[in-house]
Amino acid sequence: MIQKVILLWILLQCAFVNSVFGENAVLKGEASDLDERSTNVKSKDGLIKFNMRRSLDLEQEGCYLQTGRKECLEECGFNATAKSIFIIHGWTMSGMFENWMQKLVSAVIQRETEANVVVVDWIPMAQQLYPDAVNHTSSVGLSIADMLDWLQDEAQMPLGNVHLIGYSLGAHVAGFAGTFVRGTIGRITGLDPAGPMFEGVDEQKRLSPDDADFVDVLHTYTREALGVSIGIQRPIGDIDIYPNGGDVQPGCAIGDVLAVAGNFMEVMKCEHERAVHLFVDSLMSKDHLSYAFQCTGAERFKKGICLSCRKNRCNSIGYNARKMRKRRNSKMYLKTRADTPFGGFHFQMKMHVFDRKMSVDPDPTFHVKLYGAHNDTSDIYVEVYDHKIGLNATNTFLVFTEEDIGDLLKIELSWEGDGESWNSVWKSFRKSFFTWNTSLSKPVLQVRRIRVKAGETQKKFTFCVPDPSKMDISPGESLTFVKCRDGWESKPSKRLAM
Ligand SMILES: *[C@@H]1O[C@H](CO)[C@@H](O)[C@H](O)[C@H]1NC(C)=O
Ligand SMILES: *[C@@H]1O[C@H](CO)[C@@H](O)[C@H](O)[C@H]1NC(C)=O
Ligand SMILES: *[C@@H]1O[C@H](CO)[C@@H](O)[C@H](O)[C@H]1NC(C)=O
Ligand SMILES: *[C@@H]1O[C@H](CO)[C@@H](O)[C@H](O)[C@H]1NC(C)=O
Ligand SMILES: *[C@@H]1O[C@H](CO)[C@@H](O)[C@H](O)[C@H]1NC(C)=O
Repeated sequence: MIQKVILLWILLQCAFVNSVFGENAVLKGEASDLDERSTNVKSKDGLIKFNMRRSLDLEQEGCYLQTGRKECLEECGFNATAKSIFIIHGWTMSGMFENWMQKLVSAVIQRETEANVVVVDWIPMAQQLYPDAVNHTSSVGLSIADMLDWLQDEAQMPLGNVHLIGYSLGAHVAGFAGTFVRGTIGRITGLDPAGPMFEGVDEQKRLSPDDADFVDVLHTYTREALGVSIGIQRPIGDIDIYPNGGDVQPGCAIGDVLAVAGNFMEVMKCEHERAVHLFVDSLMSKDHLSYAFQCTGAERFKKGICLSCRKNRCNSIGYNARKMRKRRNSKMYLKTRADTPFGGFHFQMKMHVFDRKMSVDPDPTFHVKLYGAHNDTSDIYVEVYDHKIGLNATNTFLVFTEEDIGDLLKIELSWEGDGESWNSVWKSFRKSFFTWNTSLSKPVLQVRRIRVKAGETQKKFTFCVPDPSKMDISPGESLTFVKCRDGWESKPSKRLAM
């Protein structure tokens, strides 16, 4: 395990020279002075700084909180009755704050104008071989706990108003702070908590639900490489949200080509850091909330089975997440866009596909196009359970639209014709090969209605073919569904699919 991590580290170290050094990854005015630090290495106090940010102007140095120095509280304008938000970075190779830190800090300051916003700077202990940085997480957590205890004593700061936000290794630092502090922290948010050396360990040695009153986690890069994943895979909070399945993120992938080191680094940064950008997005948008839905797995979610909000099964993601009753290992999913604003719109669709004419292995490939009051979507591939449309069965699928198309007015269902794709060429080849029959009659299926549930509004509708005598569909054809005449807004069904 450790060898793999070191291997990964060496790989990253090589990649880093090419890609990261070129970037302007410095939070200006806070570039760490390494010379000064190396002389400070003897005492831990000098290595961990609590930099309180007062203004949006990040060129300003800010002000430092120090335990035992009450005058700092006044100097920094610490408001003990306001929220206190601590931002904790992770492992670093550059020895500097990365760009995301500036984005996150300014988003927090804009959203919570009265809050005490504190950047926990443990860069000298984070800029180490990865296993050494991991080894420092508990002592950094202890320092934060000391600071919080001191603030409780000196300023009567209620611990319930404290929110720790930790990225990568910083998420586990926050976990240790929650373990060591006297009392219970209000909230900890883990942004793609680090996986290597934390995946299998027990709760005391990583972020866990006991570390705060509410622990919410975003997982964005859980795909394994070299046997480890950068982000932890297992759920470790009260709610664990896996955007786009949590393994890879839209807009980050570079295809299946083996990436050269520089690209590999960029992809990794894009996927891992996406958790931060999703969180920043949630701070900036109070109006359009992104929702995640509880589901037992990413595959089931992709098939549209889980879009229910009953019994707290859905929640807003990021900063707007509602605290929920302790419910461990509750995995939640959503799809996102590739860029900010990341939120989109989820629809669950259900249709019963009849095979009255006893077609020979019709194996259809369906697409739907949604027509809304504001806009229409393009053709969207219908992915169903087991990758095969069930005949004489109800098929459930998920449709995601990047923009708000407004009220849904019409649905067009089309059956991909022969010759439209390699998939269907193969299908017809296979059919004639196995039946030895080139004069096959074209398959005919029937769809009468499509039931739709909008994830974001939880509204349910039923769409019907306008003419009940025309509900046949064959390859290369399409059917149009409009709001059913009789009560098209259906009553909530008793049996909810989950
Ligand atoms: C401190 O924070 C509280 C709660 O946000 C607010 O009502 C109060 O006005 C703040 N005090 C100062 C001096 O800003
Ligand atoms: C972690 O730190 C402790 C001292 O705090 C040290 O004894 C131990 O060897 C370190 N472990 C590793 C893997 O570096
Ligand atoms: C579907 O049901 C019809 C009878 O309604 C039957 O003839 C047909 O074989 C069935 N198809 C499949 C795939 O079960
Ligand atoms: C409709 O969607 C397309 C992309 O799908 C977009 O280019 C266009 O601007 C949208 N129109 C409106 C009115 O929103
Ligand atoms: C070929 O298919 C047609 C129409 O489905 C059918 O009438 C015919 O019997 C089939 N021939 C063979 C050899 O299966």
